[in-house]
Amino acid sequence: MAQSNAIPQPATTAPAWDRAGWRRFPRIQMPEYTDPQALSAVEAQLRQYPPLVFAGEARRLKAELANVAAGKAFLLQGGDCAESFAQFSADNIRDTFKVMLQMAVVLTWGAQLPVVKVGRMAGQFAKPRSAPTEIVDGVELPSYRGDIINGFDFTAASRVPDPQRMLQAYTQAAASLNLLRAFSTGGFADIHRVQSWIADFTDGPEAARYRDIADRISDAMAFMQAAGVTAETAHELGTVEFYTSHEALLLEYEEALARIDTTTGLPIAGSGHMIWIGDRTRQIDGAHMEFCRGVQNPLGLKCGPTISTSDLKTLIATLNPQNEPGRLTLIARFGAGSVGDHLPRLIRAVQEEGANVVWSCDPMHGNTIKSASGYKTRPFDSVLREVCEFFKVHQAEGTVPGGVHFEMTGSDVTECTGGVRAVTDEDLQSRYHTACDPRLNASQSLELAFLVAEELRTRRTNGQNGLRQAG
Ligand code: PEP
Ligand code: CO
Repeated sequence: MAQSNAIPQPATTAPAWDRAGWRRFPRIQMPEYTDPQALSAVEAQLRQYPPLVFAGEARRLKAELANVAAGKAFLLQGGDCAESFAQFSADNIRDTFKVMLQMAVVLTWGAQLPVVKVGRMAGQFAKPRSAPTEIVDGVELPSYRGDIINGFDFTAASRVPDPQRMLQAYTQAAASLNLLRAFSTGGFADIHRVQSWIADFTDGPEAARYRDIADRISDAMAFMQAAGVTAETAHELGTVEFYTSHEALLLEYEEALARIDTTTGLPIAGSGHMIWIGDRTRQIDGAHMEFCRGVQNPLGLKCGPTISTSDLKTLIATLNPQNEPGRLTLIARFGAGSVGDHLPRLIRAVQEEGANVVWSCDPMHGNTIKSASGYKTRPFDSVLREVCEFFKVHQAEGTVPGGVHFEMTGSDVTECTGGVRAVTDEDLQSRYHTACDPRLNASQSLELAFLVAEELRTRRTNGQNGLRQAG
């Protein structure tokens, strides 16, 4: 389809935008491709391909996130740190989808709110890195930057950025989405199966507590069924809305998949429903900001300890000049023990601007440590602690803790330590499969959902008691 360069602009005072405009801004964390012709050929091909997601879907997610911002829904975002070509399989997609649905059921019970489900899937391929090179046994090579850019193998050839990888990533994302769409409507989503999902989760000293919650959820389900609310009578029970998201890091790929939404006439990223800007690429005059501000998708912005309140205000004004609810999700990632040092000042900056945002908590990226056995890991207790600190600060500030953002997988990996089926430092080497950061495994993810649900439930009950007393 021919694309005009004359892109209609939204009615704001924001500077003009075009899909290639980011190229005039400083870019970091992006590869230097060595063959410009090969790169152009790939970009031209991607520009011709269909978008992976449709504008109406992104708009629907934005409306759901507006509910999250208003405290009427809860956001669960999760998936791989980095999707990989080698580990691409129907089983992996199914297992991660399945554990996210399980978590969503448990969180729905905890929050007493609908849960908006967003996968870090079907596009989460490009990775920012802390160093441009890595040294192994005295050999220095460019860092691995995700399968969409270069190869994981530690060889000079594999680490050369190859634009052809963008086509493979597109194909994998399309096939992943195809499967996710099928699972979402094909009965796999049937909520009645929740009892069997919870049935495998029985080991360990905490299990009785979780079983109690599971029983209460099952009772609620049984009641609904007895009252005639079944997958046959209520469409919502047999299908789920499941959205995709990824870090918009590789801007050549994002630009090539940007499209014009024919309904609104405005630009939209076609690479995923929601895209986010990472903590390393959120410079106010940077290329990533420039690209993201112009597309209409819901956006995430990672906020780590180094973000200043004045930068945050500028970022919010640039990314959401019309203060549209659901447009911007601030994903706080400070580390357990540090939430109280940063979140209150950022919440107040948002309040001062009267900005409408979703607050979400990523308890993964501030809690990465090197284990005694040498693996990069995250202790389960630190992950849980950061989420609890996040809820506590929001309660103190009177603001809405909108959701959680996890690096997780449905597979039985050993990458994060702890949990009821305790993964120890020594276990890490047994099934350490991540292409980048350590992920919660299926059991740890579900356990975390139980613990977060308990926390939400307790805070809800306390809050209601408080209201009753005040009234
Ligand atoms: C990530 O989400 O994988 C990531 C790199 O996060 P951050 O930008 O918050 O460090
Ligand atoms: Co990560």
